[in-house]
Amino acid sequence: MRKRNVSMKGKCGAVVAGLLLVAALPVLAQLRAPTRPQVPLPDGAVRNVILKNCVSCHGIDDYSYHALTRERWENLLETAHTEYAIPPLAHADRTLLLDYLSETFGTEHTPFPRTYVPPEIDTYYDDKQGLAVLDTVCSECHALDRVYETRATLERWRVLLLEMRARGAELPDNEDLERMAEWLSRVQSANTFE
Ligand code: HEC
Ligand code: HEC
Repeated sequence: MRKRNVSMKGKCGAVVAGLLLVAALPVLAQLRAPTRPQVPLPDGAVRNVILKNCVSCHGIDDYSYHALTRERWENLLETAHTEYAIPPLAHADRTLLLDYLSETFGTEHTPFPRTYVPPEIDTYYDDKQGLAVLDTVCSECHALDRVYETRATLERWRVLLLEMRARGAELPDNEDLERMAEWLSRVQSANTFE
């Protein structure tokens, strides 16, 4: 233990510099790359069906790009996997999976935009501006409790706001959306110990 501590100390400067670099890169990459949807792994029996059959090549977030009937989900699973064939599912598992897909990402679902690239901002909302958006835009469909019950990172707030926009929330300007996400990530931060 002791030995390790000593050698860590010597490397401290390099480690810190390395950390700073690593910390800076994802922020830049995040700003340039399209924002990806975030889909939580469902509970229940379908969870294992997905873990067993669906996550070895890619995650489940991409499902949210789609809003399809059951038949069209069946069709997509076939056409998306012609090159990389997936092993056939047991009948019961297939039923569970198609139930989940067509209920969660069915025609009621709003597809996540594929190409939203977050803009860089150099001005930020203060509390008055953030609260004004909550009052005028967010309270239109649901109580603001939904907002105050949620704590999330900037990335997650951005995804949530894009989902709200797709559902009809009046957030037409990308920079304003980014400012709102940034403000929410401060006042409703993921860090619950603040
Ligand atoms: C053997 C690897 C592999 C497995 C296992 C796999 N997929 Fe895929 N999947 C792919 C590839 C490769 C693509 C991209 C196809 C393309 O771009 O045309 C894809 C695409 C998709 C898409 C479309 C994504 C988009 O961006 O529109 C969905 C939805 C999807 N898969 C769902 C599933 C589900 C559900 C399962 C489990 C039943 C599964 N995949 C298992 C390889 C796999
Ligand atoms: C056009 C209607 C509409 C507007 C406007 C709207 N929302 Fe929502 N919001 C919804 C719906 C519908 C849900 C429920 C989604 C669900 O449960 O799947 C929701 C859920 C949420 C949730 C909970 C999501 C979760 O996964 O827990 C949060 C947080 C949220 N909204 C924040 C906001 C914020 C912030 C605004 C203002 C920028 C806003 N909403 C404006 C329709 C709207």
